[in-house]
Amino acid sequence: MKRAAAVFLAVLAPAIAFAYPNGTPDYVTDTGPFCASCHSVASAEYMAELPADRAKGEVAEIKHYGLVRMPTPPSPYIELANEEKEELIRKAKLIDASSSVTLEAPKRMKAGQEASITVKARGGNGPAICVMLVDRASRFQARPVSSMGWLIQGAPEVRGQDGKPQTGWLDKRASGTGRNLNYITIADQRFDLEKKLFPEGTVTYRVKAPSAPGVYTMAAAFLYGTENAVNSAFFQRPSGRILFSGEVRIEVE
Ligand code: HEC
Repeated sequence: MKRAAAVFLAVLAPAIAFAYPNGTPDYVTDTGPFCASCHSVASAEYMAELPADRAKGEVAEIKHYGLVRMPTPPSPYIELANEEKEELIRKAKLIDASSSVTLEAPKRMKAGQEASITVKARGGNGPAICVMLVDRASRFQARPVSSMGWLIQGAPEVRGQDGKPQTGWLDKRASGTGRNLNYITIADQRFDLEKKLFPEGTVTYRVKAPSAPGVYTMAAAFLYGTENAVNSAFFQRPSGRILFSGEVRIEVE
């Protein structure tokens, strides 16, 4: 039984590993964190619009570890021994505890004024991480900042774990189309839990403030994994994560 499952996985792995566990290599466009429906979230507060028990069901303790410990199908973890399950949970908790994302933005701007906004993310287990610039820390309802009138000016500057600029993600855009995306994947991430080496990256967006004065909120969404591409090739696993930066308030006058 175990063997049959392994063969089945080996056949499927190349196709699936190409998709979600390495991020989403083909969705080179503006998007929001709603797309990562399989990921667990860092906090139930990201779904204030949902009934409390549904929101709580999205946090890692229940959505991820609950499924890891579940002894029956549909858990994709039933092949694992209890010690392996606990080890997987121990590692995921350490990764979560070391994962963070921050957003730096001006507090006050003139309508139509340009400024730089910087997102710094660290954590997950690689080989890729991704960030999005959105209007709110909301798992299902956050919108790309452009929906609120913030225009991203040109290609964001992306720096990887080594601090060097990387353009691989934006180079995938069809030629002649804009590179001013809110969704950025930062690739080539190394990970070593024992050495506390975590994926890391910085994205600097140049934005133009909306033309309508008002108080706007903005947040960075950070998406990462806690298992690894091989283990989670069976991609119903809820081992992905969504973490938001604090919401920043920007007064546009
Ligand atoms: C079918 C379930 C599923 C959906 C839908 C999904 N993901 Fe994931 N995602 C996963 C799994 C499984 C992993 C692997 C997590 C791990 O390493 O433990 C993952 C990992 C990731 C990672 C980290 C990659 C890595 O190298 O570990 C990123 C970034 C990511 N997803 C972004 C997205 C985005 C953006 C969307 C929406 C467009 C999305 N995901 C939708 C299941 C999903």
